[in-house]
Amino acid sequence: MSRKMKNKVLPTIRIERIAAEGKCVAYYEGKVVFVSNVAPGDLVDIRVTKGRSSFMEGEAIVFHEYSNDRVKPFCSHFGTCGGCKWQHINYELQKTYKRQQVIDQFTRIGKVDIPEVLPIIGSEKTQYYRNKLDFTFSNNRWLTKEEINSEKTFERNALGFHIPKMFDKIVDIDHCYLQGNASNDIRNSLRTFALQEGLTFFDLRNQVGLLRNLIIRSSSTGEIMVIVQFGENDPVAIQKVMEFLKSEFSFIDSLLYIINLKKNETFHDQEVITYHGRDFIEEEMEGLRFRVGPKSFYQTNSTQAYELYKVAREFASLNGDEVVYDLYTGTGTIANFVAKETKQVIGIEYVEAAIADAKINSKINGLKNTLFYAGDMKDILNEEFLSQHPMPDVVITDPPRAGMHEDVVKMLLRLEAPKIVYVSCNPATQARDIALLSEKYQIDKIQPVDMFPQTYHVENVVKLTLKS
Ligand SMILES: C[S@@+](CC[C@H](N)C(=O)[O-])C[C@H]1O[C@@H](n2cnc3c(N)ncnc32)[C@H](O)[C@@H]1O
Repeated sequence: MSRKMKNKVLPTIRIERIAAEGKCVAYYEGKVVFVSNVAPGDLVDIRVTKGRSSFMEGEAIVFHEYSNDRVKPFCSHFGTCGGCKWQHINYELQKTYKRQQVIDQFTRIGKVDIPEVLPIIGSEKTQYYRNKLDFTFSNNRWLTKEEINSEKTFERNALGFHIPKMFDKIVDIDHCYLQGNASNDIRNSLRTFALQEGLTFFDLRNQVGLLRNLIIRSSSTGEIMVIVQFGENDPVAIQKVMEFLKSEFSFIDSLLYIINLKKNETFHDQEVITYHGRDFIEEEMEGLRFRVGPKSFYQTNSTQAYELYKVAREFASLNGDEVVYDLYTGTGTIANFVAKETKQVIGIEYVEAAIADAKINSKINGLKNTLFYAGDMKDILNEEFLSQHPMPDVVITDPPRAGMHEDVVKMLLRLEAPKIVYVSCNPATQARDIALLSEKYQIDKIQPVDMFPQTYHVENVVKLTLKS
């Protein structure tokens, strides 16, 4: 099998199972074919888009039979927008596949002995569960094949999500089922206002245009933060946009903007200006209040974050005497959540603003046994740090998708904490790190938690115990 297979059509192939990253697997003459946007059980003709010696990638071009496990996607943007790739699969099965992904990653990538993976904790809300959405303005709206073929002219300004793998094409979002509250209303009204006023939408290729990005954050307390990023420093136009949002949506608790003249939309290094209200919103959990600023990470499904943290706390099985390290602490949510049941918690995180919030979060909740440090984990967690702080009895670690730096894994092996609770949004990198940790640790429990219904993403918590 080779590159010569590209564009060949493989007729009547049964889709067998789900693989990593939500793609499905079929077989052709014994070789694996990865196919997107299908469901296990579909019978399809596949056009090969990539041919390699050991596998192929392809797309379904004809459906002969649809899988019985399919359900009708509820969103009109499904299939174009990259957001909810699994809307065509019923939720029970989504959960089964997610749990299976965890098993597959640990057995195939980690190649470690695992106990029975616990049944996944499903999300009560399967729609409107996100507390943060990030929309992009663009003067290059994605047109469907039908629109192009109709030869009509269309409005090309758009406010919505990136088309997967096409950085400059944006799907204009009419209704998004991911965020409740007034998110749809705010986005659609702002777009209408901008079009009426003739304001420029960002040109992603040429890097010009006033309106660049819109972030809407909501919280379990019902508070709303809106952040607008501008690509041009035009005070009059900026004032017009912000005043519109302030007067039209008087319930916005935190109305902020950023003038971002950089090449990308990330704003961790940019000044955030408060136009109206506070510069933070608050989350609530078990009576604790958490302050979330514009630059801070907070788990995007607040209800499931609580389920996740309860699992982490249970796996840590604290009795009040332990020193706990909370690595990749973000705004210190896990640290503050478990603080009452520990002697001391030390949280480390590289976003300084998040650490500032973590300290405030301890203060407003009357927690006096927490310490927080900002910096890159591999640089902060060193011998000098250990000489100045007590050794941990429990390490809770919750790294980003890339997992932990190898130096951090080595440091965990050096620390020899009796227990490690590893929380991850990427079981592949988690399995890789745990394979290294298995030199000294055994896996006691594995608990997947679904934070992101309608997507293939899965959160996973693993309890590791130091081998005797
Ligand atoms: C998945 S989040 C976990 C946050 C927190 N535990 C929570 O539940 O809200 C990962 C965090 O790791 C931080 N981070 C990423 N790379 C880091 C690094 N090299 N050193 C320290 N922190 C890092 C991110 O800023 C982010 O806040």
